[in-house]
Formats: sequence, C-alpha cells, structure tokens
Amino acid sequence: MGKNHKSEDHYFSSQPKCDDQFRIVKAHLQDRNFEFLTSSSVFSKKRVDLGTSVLIDAMVLPQTGSVLDIGCGYGAVGIVAAASNPKLHVIMTDVNMRAVRLARQNVKANRVGNVQVLYGYLYEPVENLQFDCVLSNPPVSAGMEVVKAIIGSAPKVMAVGGKFQMVIRSKIGAKTLPEIFIDAFGNCEVLSRKSGFRVLMGST
Ligand SMILES: C[S@@+](CC[C@H](N)C(=O)[O-])C[C@H]1O[C@@H](n2cnc3c(N)ncnc32)[C@H](O)[C@@H]1O
Repeated sequence: MGKNHKSEDHYFSSQPKCDDQFRIVKAHLQDRNFEFLTSSSVFSKKRVDLGTSVLIDAMVLPQTGSVLDIGCGYGAVGIVAAASNPKLHVIMTDVNMRAVRLARQNVKANRVGNVQVLYGYLYEPVENLQFDCVLSNPPVSAGMEVVKAIIGSAPKVMAVGGKFQMVIRSKIGAKTLPEIFIDAFGNCEVLSRKSGFRVLMGST
C-alpha cells in the first residue's frame, strides 16, 4: 500500500482520494488493439479484467441504435462496442469520477467518436433515455444490492426488444442471478460460459 493510499478508497468510490498512479494497459479485443489509461482506485487497473474480456467476446450488439455500458470503469466495454460499429451511439456511465475522467481520455485516445461518458449513480444520468442494449460488468464488491438494482431497474431505460447483458463469476451468479433476471425481464438466457464466468442476457 503506497503512502498516499487512503484506506477508504474503493474502485466504486465516487471521488477517490489517493493520488493518481497512471499506467497504460494494452489489450487486443475483437481483433483490434486498444490502449487504456488507468489509475489507482479504478477497477482492474493493471490489465483488462477476464470477466470484461468474456463480456466483450460474447456481447450481442444491435446493427444501429443505442448502447449503455453501465459502470464503465476506464471504458473497455463501451469503447470496444463503439469501435465495432460507428452506427451505434454508446453511452458509458460510472459513479467513480476518476473512472469517468479516464474513460473520457480513453475515448479520445482510441479515436472513437460515437461515445459519451456520463457521471452518476446507477441509471440516474440516463433516466430519460431508451437503449437497445445495456452491458454490465457489475460492481460485486459494492454489494449484491447494487448488482440487483442494475438488473432490476434496467427495463426502465430499455426499448422494446432491447438486450441486457451481464457478466458474472459463475460461482457468484449461477444460482441467484437468473431468478433476478426472470423477475426483471420474464426471461434469462446464458449467452456464454467461459473461464469461470457467465454472460446472462435478458430481453425486453
Ligand atoms: C466491476 S467494475 C467494471 C468496470 C468496467 N465495466 C470493466 O469491465 O472494466 C464495476 C464499475 O461499476 C461502477 N459502479 C459501482 N457502483 C455503481 C453505481 N451505483 N452506479 C454506477 N456505477 C457504479 C464502479 O465504479 C466500477 O467502475
């Protein structure tokens, strides 16, 4: 732990207090090279997380329309989605202001024009919008109540026919999350099972 580390900081703190310790993370995702600026007190600062990669590999995106990456961190999921198809409009949100700043820098650094990054809690920054696709690598460390709220409130911001996709460690989510998907969407499909993770999908 560095001397400037503040023990109350988490990757889901709204305003991390410890000093930034920047680094560049390189990743090859969906046949492209990306570089992400990361820092202390953001999720998976040393490398793109395995669950993130599993979600990116499995995600089903619309041909056109809008995509939300809720809890975007430094932006890997939303940036790869936007880079895959310039016809999409991608919004990324996070409750951690440092993550939001990094995600904005990473949008520019990776030259994706079809992305907006917003700061805020759960769906508050997008409560008047409707998405065709919502993507989530949820903040399990913030507690299952937050994970459940990300699933349960998603239909309010989704268009008819929208697809909600969440990656979760199989041992955490395999039993409990499908029930929450059924409550929220009336359905739950397993899109992918890989490396100890599952990607679950609910359709509106
Ligand atoms: C597991 S990380 C995933 C980050 C990124 N999507 C990735 O895959 O690298 C979850 C993210 O959710 C954010 N988060 C936690 N609670 C949140 C909330 N209530 N509303 C919005 N974002 C939240 C955290 O700050 C964190 O960046």
